Amino acid sequence: MADASGLDALRSIVGHPHVLDDPEVTASYRTDWTARWVGTCRAVVRPADTSEVAAVVRWCSSNGVHIVPQGGNTGLVGGAVPSAGDVVLSTLRLSSIGEVDDRSGQVTAGAGATVAAVEAAARAAGWRYGVDFAARESATIGGSVATNAGGHHVVRHGMTRRQVIGLEVVLADGSVVSHLGGLVKDNTGYDLGALMCGSEGTLGVITSARLALVPDAGERAVALVGFDSVDAAVAAIGPLRRAIPELEALELMFADGIASVAEVIGASPPLGDVAVMLLVEVAGGHDPIAVLGDAVGRLDGVVAVAVADDATRRADLWRWRDAHTETISRVGTTPPHKLDVTLPLPRLARFIAEVRSLVATVAPEARLWLFGHAGDGNIHVNITGLAPDDESVVAAVLELVASMGGSISAEHGIGRAKRQWLHLNRSPAEIAAFRSIKRALDPTATFNPRVLLPEIEATSEGVERS
Ligand code: FAD
Ligand code: MLT
Ligand code: ZN
Repeated sequence: MADASGLDALRSIVGHPHVLDDPEVTASYRTDWTARWVGTCRAVVRPADTSEVAAVVRWCSSNGVHIVPQGGNTGLVGGAVPSAGDVVLSTLRLSSIGEVDDRSGQVTAGAGATVAAVEAAARAAGWRYGVDFAARESATIGGSVATNAGGHHVVRHGMTRRQVIGLEVVLADGSVVSHLGGLVKDNTGYDLGALMCGSEGTLGVITSARLALVPDAGERAVALVGFDSVDAAVAAIGPLRRAIPELEALELMFADGIASVAEVIGASPPLGDVAVMLLVEVAGGHDPIAVLGDAVGRLDGVVAVAVADDATRRADLWRWRDAHTETISRVGTTPPHKLDVTLPLPRLARFIAEVRSLVATVAPEARLWLFGHAGDGNIHVNITGLAPDDESVVAAVLELVASMGGSISAEHGIGRAKRQWLHLNRSPAEIAAFRSIKRALDPTATFNPRVLLPEIEATSEGVERS
């Protein structure tokens, strides 16, 4: 019998056990982390190496089959969720990590290696990986490069793009472009690796990355600082950044989020009844605890402080921040609508006030959760209590962000969730340039056709517009 679905052809490339088509087995690959998006697919294909990835891509592009690249499936914008007929190309078997090169402070990692595994390899060699966030145990290097992930240490080390020295990528025709030589200075034409950072699986499959590591800064200290107002907390961001050259993280939390985390983890809020908090981490330098104490002592509006220098107590303070995402999914009455926006820092406090009153007006039945990476002006706006397809609050919040000069995606990407609002941040000329890049690198529209770029509408004159 002819193999209409192509599964036999795919099995001949990756081996029978690595083509999954039983809907029960594929369920976790078809459902996003929040459970807001559930897709269907032809199969999940799990290649073992770059040559198998290339053969799968070649087969799909010549048979008109879409590929959704997927790593840890922790993305928060629906970018790794397939639609009927798609192949999910899982990179989880590409998890090797090479030796850390101590001379350059670099390592080569397979796309399926987790962020935590790369950090462990770096640490064992006396280095650190500059990117960290709560999904570290599942999120992969391929996925974090494809989303240009941010996280807790952007204030010091920048986004994932800054760590990428070079990539190996499989393009739509099955060709492999590999630039893993580790040269920091290399002005030999277009930087294809940088283009792949943040491309959300639309331009190719990343199979390997050459990553820059950062020196292990040594001694660390963390403070949780409570303020009497949002204005005071936001006003503290600049002075803390100026006073602490070794600032590693600067995170924002609110009393209602902390109260819900307390309920979930079964502990009392660490600072008692405090409206707004900054979590401040210092790594390295001379006597970080003294540096922290001195910087916090000069701030206005501080009402409570907890300080930790040993690893256990630092982890206890961090748990209040890292547990937010899990808590929202457990306590919220519906899967959250998740937005991650950046505001210019001088407008952050006003945005926080305005978004609260906007959501209360547009959806009085909904619950709003705010928290984020204060040092970067990045605030996570989560809303629970909405129907999964209700986009009215999302539209209102993203329009407010754009009107205040902010970005509708600080770090999670556009995915499916925000493609209809890309025009709020990108001009028609920019979107046209994006489409030209997509057509040039993926002429068969094989890779992730439903994410990032807005759907093209046909007008009554038969003209396409985005
Ligand atoms: P996936 O979810 O599998 O995929 C994400 C996107 O990348 C999809 O569009 C997919 O098609 C594409 N992709 C995946 N692998 C490849 C590849 N090899 N080649 C090409 N394209 C590929 N994000 C942050 O930026 N900062 C945070 O602080 C943060 N915290 C989080 C905390 C929690 C608890 C959770 C659940 C998520 C968090 N995230 C955060 C979001 C998420 O973890 C990141 O976006 C992460 O980079 C996704 O990695 P992944 O391997 O799970 O990718
Ligand atoms: C975080 O900073 O914790 C994340 O980006 C995840 C989220 O937005 O929930
Ligand atoms: Zn975040």
